[in-house]
Amino acid sequence: MKHLFFLLAILFSVPVAKAQDLQEIKLNAPDKTRGSSVMKALSDRASVREMDERALSLQDLSDLLWAAYGVNRPDGRRTAPTAKNDQDIDLYVALPAGTYLYDARNHLLKPVVSGDLRPVLAAGQEFVKKVPVVLLIVSDYSRFRMGNTEMARLWGAMDGGIVSQNINIFCAAVGLSTVPRAYMDQAKLKEILSLKETQMPVLNNPVGYPKKR
Ligand SMILES: Cc1cc2nc3c(=O)[nH]c(=O)nc-3n(C[C@H](O)[C@H](O)[C@H](O)COP(=O)(O)O)c2cc1C
Repeated sequence: MKHLFFLLAILFSVPVAKAQDLQEIKLNAPDKTRGSSVMKALSDRASVREMDERALSLQDLSDLLWAAYGVNRPDGRRTAPTAKNDQDIDLYVALPAGTYLYDARNHLLKPVVSGDLRPVLAAGQEFVKKVPVVLLIVSDYSRFRMGNTEMARLWGAMDGGIVSQNINIFCAAVGLSTVPRAYMDQAKLKEILSLKETQMPVLNNPVGYPKKR
């Protein structure tokens, strides 16, 4: 009987465990010399939903995150602008074994929760379950020092859109595949990632190498 209870507890528990199972991931210094010209990247940018399942190399992941929302100036400002520099955006990184938070100041990934978040992000789009990484862009609109909630949510969505476009252009410039996505199970994500009421998942970008034909 005891065994049955244990089995049921496993089957019906939330499909992700605590972050203790995961280690911090130290990222490589970004290679700021790589990629095509801006005009070529704009010319190549396109939403791609078919990707190789192979994991990204650490250098590609490091460069992707720095391009998306890394620190690019000594005063801590970022590769993506935010309204009044209130830096409302957090970037979550969903890898098959668990989800991490990008710590841009120290350029590393901090464990948040173990387990596979991709099915929750997929929300019915099957390809998302198999991509090597999904970047989840979350705005905490309580970080805005002025404006009402309606304005803050709007600015949060704008700031998130700019981070997503950094990802789109970086991927186009270096030959990675991506697509900006609004589909995701918002309520489940908030629960699993223990997000505050004011933290709003804005967009997510699955990223992978182009599918081999
Ligand atoms: C705000 C926003 C939300 C989007 N959400 C999704 C999505 O949930 N799933 C998806 O497959 N594509 C999504 N897209 C991608 C669009 O479908 C795509 O950008 C559009 O069809 C134009 O194609 P292109 O990006 O190749 O120019 C989204 C794009 C934007 C800008």
